[in-house]
Amino acid sequence: MCGIVGYVGARPCRDLLVAGLEKLEYRGYDSAGLSVIEDGRVESVRAVGHLGNLRAALEEHDSRGGRVAVAAPPATTGVAHTRWATHGRVTEENAHPHSDSSDRVHIVLNGIVENHAKLRRRLEADGGVFSSETDAEVVAHLIASHYDGDLAAAVRAAFAKLRGHYAFVAMHADQPGVLVGARKECPLVAGIGEGESFLASAIPAFLAETSEVVTIENDEIVTIDASGVRIADSEGDPVEREPETIDWDSDAAEKGGYETFMLKEIHEQADAVAETIAGRLPGDEGVDLSEVDLEDDYLRGLKRVVIVACGTSYHAGLVGRYAIEEWARVPVEMDVASEYRYRNPVVDPGDLVIGLTQSGETADTLAAMRLAREKGARVLAITNLMGSQATRDADAVLYTRAGLEVSVAATKTFVAQIAAMYLVGLRLAELRGTLGTERLTELVGELKQMPSKIEETLAGCEDRVREVAEAHHDQKFFLYLGRHIGLPVCLEGALKLKEVSYIPTDAYAAGEMKHGPIALLDESTPVVCVATDSPVLSKVLSNVEEVRARGAETIAIVTEGSGAVGDVAEQTIEVARSDWLLQPIVAILPLQLLAYDIARRLGLNVDQPRNLAKTVTVE
Ligand code: F6R
Repeated sequence: MCGIVGYVGARPCRDLLVAGLEKLEYRGYDSAGLSVIEDGRVESVRAVGHLGNLRAALEEHDSRGGRVAVAAPPATTGVAHTRWATHGRVTEENAHPHSDSSDRVHIVLNGIVENHAKLRRRLEADGGVFSSETDAEVVAHLIASHYDGDLAAAVRAAFAKLRGHYAFVAMHADQPGVLVGARKECPLVAGIGEGESFLASAIPAFLAETSEVVTIENDEIVTIDASGVRIADSEGDPVEREPETIDWDSDAAEKGGYETFMLKEIHEQADAVAETIAGRLPGDEGVDLSEVDLEDDYLRGLKRVVIVACGTSYHAGLVGRYAIEEWARVPVEMDVASEYRYRNPVVDPGDLVIGLTQSGETADTLAAMRLAREKGARVLAITNLMGSQATRDADAVLYTRAGLEVSVAATKTFVAQIAAMYLVGLRLAELRGTLGTERLTELVGELKQMPSKIEETLAGCEDRVREVAEAHHDQKFFLYLGRHIGLPVCLEGALKLKEVSYIPTDAYAAGEMKHGPIALLDESTPVVCVATDSPVLSKVLSNVEEVRARGAETIAIVTEGSGAVGDVAEQTIEVARSDWLLQPIVAILPLQLLAYDIARRLGLNVDQPRNLAKTVTVE
């Protein structure tokens, strides 16, 4: 997740901007940069890697007599950015800020502009010259093409032409002392100080300077100057909003006001899915995975897909197996990477092997991918980290775009991985003609709605989860049961609980219960059943009956408005209704929250469970 900071006021802004970026480092980034307005022109410095590299680049710029530093008086208007690459490689050219051909408009942008390619073609035809691969540069050109002395008006006109999921802040060399921002589903907040104002993607960026905050809402354009903040809707009509006073300390600020990173990341899941599908479902029925370097003919003729992964990523792969087989009618094998690599697997050169790894650095998954490649298969890496080893070891890459996950227990990367698997399944189905247009359109529409269904589910289930956690947090063992796509949800729910609360758990295919695990059940065993609406629901309900017959207490995850389960299970937790194959994205949410709530009641450090460390490789 990228970071934005902007400043206007009376103070020299360069150090303030870098200090703001430092406060956003926890979000993860691979490059950084800043631009300031001085003496009627813009000076810009960018660098790949750590902020230390940006500082060094600024010093070098100073030593060459660069005007960022030597301006007299020093620049007092500027924007800065930390970039987590989503499309376009990690290079200085792709780092933000970006500018138009005449270098008058500079912008920093988070998120994704879906129609950037079309806009770029039009702007190039009008003579625009581009120097990066980014969508942000397109927005800078677009604003410049509408500029007629009023930056807010130009931003509003450009905003009307953009599609996607983004927030940006722009400045124009002709209007020092003014920044204009716009928000479409990515966060943007303004800070009001004494004779100065800030715009940022998150409050920590300016919290050391002011705690007076105005939140910018979707489809709003915000203009800041030294005297304060003015908000307008996309038609240009003024919007009145009073500032709030934030009383977070710096630790709370990093966690966005949540008590832990795990809880913050649970609440970032709608964004993680929205970012992962953004630009990849451009029309009503099609899937655009042109970034994945595998020919359509090859994908059309695939005989088998093999998915290798570890832990939570393995569970996301299991969901992918059900979806790909159901939609694309290709056989899918799923294997734990540490097993696959040592079992001398039979690999057909026609196989597509998918290495699913959020970090892109898990040794077993990398080894399994290399082995498959040596044996002639083609390998697709699905990962959250640009430039990670998996991206170098694969024939093709598809990025999840969940942003940096700090908590060791994976949450938002899990739902982003499932979304990526759905994209692969739908693309294969599209190419192979295995879903009718109507069903494809229906699924694409449903997938686009999953971010709002995540929000709906989280808001709706939190209180219920709290009650269940209150009732069961001192239990010695939890069993999880599910069928079909409910099974990977159970496996993941059980992993989350054991990982953060240290309570032993087991997860089973519900139909297997009578073949042994039923012996575990008595009155003291809570049994979590994933009983969302699906063609196997009646089978799951029979299993719930069997569990209750042993006196065990059942907690069922159910689809909202589905009465059938309430008659059978003691406690139910509802999730938003969606296509049944997409249910894992919402069904996992109460289970993540349950694990979280129980662990917190036990006084445990959920962000850093004992004996576990996260593989992250952000320099
Ligand atoms: C559990 C968890 C781990 C990881 C596993 C694979 O919460 O985070 O089980 O999923 O270590 O990591 P990646 O996906 O980075 O390969």
